[in-house]
Amino acid sequence: MRRRRLAATKGWLMDYVTNVGKVLFDEETIAERVRELGRQLRADYGGRDLVVVGVLKGAFVFLADLIRAMDLPLTVDFAEIMSYGGGTETTEEVVLTKDVSVNIRDRDVLVVEDIVDTGLTTAFLLDHLRIREPRTLEVCALLYKPVKQRVEVPLRYVCFEVGDVFAVGYGLDYDGKYRNLPRLVTLKGVA
Ligand code: IMP
Ligand code: MG
Repeated sequence: MRRRRLAATKGWLMDYVTNVGKVLFDEETIAERVRELGRQLRADYGGRDLVVVGVLKGAFVFLADLIRAMDLPLTVDFAEIMSYGGGTETTEEVVLTKDVSVNIRDRDVLVVEDIVDTGLTTAFLLDHLRIREPRTLEVCALLYKPVKQRVEVPLRYVCFEVGDVFAVGYGLDYDGKYRNLPRLVTLKGVA
């Protein structure tokens, strides 16, 4: 039992050493920036009827930290978008696999994204939510990759801007892996 656990840990470590490139943002840097964003959001959304919509799956770690840094009354909901492909390139085929379940009409909606890359999935979700006539609709992204952007997205809040890298950790995945890494890192050989 213990040997199996050790082997599993070793496997994960080997994977890390083999595939992880450099650290983009460590735990402390992320925590500090999330606290700062939380203060800004509290100032902007105080006294409003805020609904925070996390985009699954990548945004769940960021969302969990961000809402606790905001310290104001709010409602949390989730939407899930899949863009088909599975590799590192976004394909044009974007599908909504889980819709929001709360009523957002006349409410202040803040969409929390993991990363705005081409902007296609975020733009798709915003079009979908706008039909429900929220009072306001803004986006807060953990990462923004301006070099890849193809469509304009109203991006009011950005945690960090990154260059042309493929980032994993802190909720972001490559082929379903690495979401549980507590820091944001690049992957070797993937851009
Ligand atoms: P879009 O290209 O802005 O539509 O991004 C679509 C989705 O691709 C994001 O929500 C992520 O799930 C994924 N994605 C894009 N770039 C990265 C990255 O650097 N790391 C991990 N996932 C990414
Ligand atoms: Mg996503």
